[in-house]
Amino acid sequence: MSDDRSNMLEIDDLRVEFSTAAGSLSAVDGVSLQLAEKESIAIVGESGSGKSVLARTLIGLLAGNGTRTGSIRIGGKDIDALTKKERKHFFGVQAAMVFQDPMTSLNPVKRIGAQLTESMKYHLDLPSNIANDRAIALLRQVHIPSPERRLRQYPHELSGGMRQRVVIAMALACEPRLLIADEPTTALDVTVQKTILDVIDELRAERNMSLILITHDLGVAEGRADRIGVMYAGRLMELASAKDLFSGMRHPYTQALLRSIPNPDRPSHTRLHPIPGRPPDLLNPPTGCAFAARCRHARPECVDNKPPLIEGSAGHFFACHFPVGTPEGEAALAENMRAGVTGAGLSLDEAAEEFV
Ligand SMILES: Nc1ncnc2c1ncn2[C@@H]1O[C@H](COP(=O)(O)OP(=O)(O)OP(=O)(O)O)[C@@H](O)[C@H]1O
Ligand SMILES: [Mg+2]
Repeated sequence: MSDDRSNMLEIDDLRVEFSTAAGSLSAVDGVSLQLAEKESIAIVGESGSGKSVLARTLIGLLAGNGTRTGSIRIGGKDIDALTKKERKHFFGVQAAMVFQDPMTSLNPVKRIGAQLTESMKYHLDLPSNIANDRAIALLRQVHIPSPERRLRQYPHELSGGMRQRVVIAMALACEPRLLIADEPTTALDVTVQKTILDVIDELRAERNMSLILITHDLGVAEGRADRIGVMYAGRLMELASAKDLFSGMRHPYTQALLRSIPNPDRPSHTRLHPIPGRPPDLLNPPTGCAFAARCRHARPECVDNKPPLIEGSAGHFFACHFPVGTPEGEAALAENMRAGVTGAGLSLDEAAEEFV
């Protein structure tokens, strides 16, 4: 599998631990994933599930207190085997990232034009006038009006939506084959969000790029990604084509996530169900399934044994002992409902009626 060059990205058993004053914190806990050329995948999960750490690790940015194990290959290249010279022009060119907060990528005291042309000059060795022309073209591609004027402006002169477009243009400047967009629209209002996501879609199609779109909102992922990976406490809980995931999700966490977001297509009387409880303490992770304490399907086995990520049907992976829509999953749920409490001690009394 690792020799298959058609794979844009191959991650094998990636683990990231941070050393903190309170002990060792496991932020990414054994993630394996492959992404083909031109493919898009959304990584979805609640705050703290390890999405940004995963993304940053992929482009070689690991905080000083972090250690990583497992391998990462981008475009067939093992990133640990890059020579110093190769590495210099690898990140930003092969793979580029749009960071969660646009202001962290923009220098407040530098004009937009200088910031946009900087990486093209550095990585591609373009002369100023060519880089400048390309910067104008890039701003056009992300639908920024009067790009010539924008090049002379400073970040604070732009709206949040415009700044995020500039950041996307910066990430695209060296024509990466893989774009990682970490919550590119969280800070923006809904209509601006949509236009930004549309711009990313459009550019991906035009440039045949692969895309990793990170979001905490399963609704954002719907219709925008070929596949969806659901992350929880540093692990992939479910990974499937978007179609399979929405039509036949197997992990109770995925189901809970979907029930916790507003969906205009669902009848108006359908209530939103916040997921009870909180994610586990990553300094002190549970022995069994990380979601067990919040899960309606949890049986004692879930508390004791961590379910591995298995391929339940072609291309559909999930890490659950009692998956949604399977006889064992339904039996576990029925048993918990009867008892009014799950095998992990979560009371189902109040939730019971709403969930049927
Ligand atoms: N340098 C660090 N040192 C210690 N802990 C860290 C460090 N960076 C991240 N973490 C921890 O790793 C875990 C995962 O963080 P991460 O930023 O990846 O979450 P996330 O899924 O991106 O969340 P959000 O949706 O809020 O952006 C969190 O518990 C976070 O506090
Ligand atoms: Mg994040």
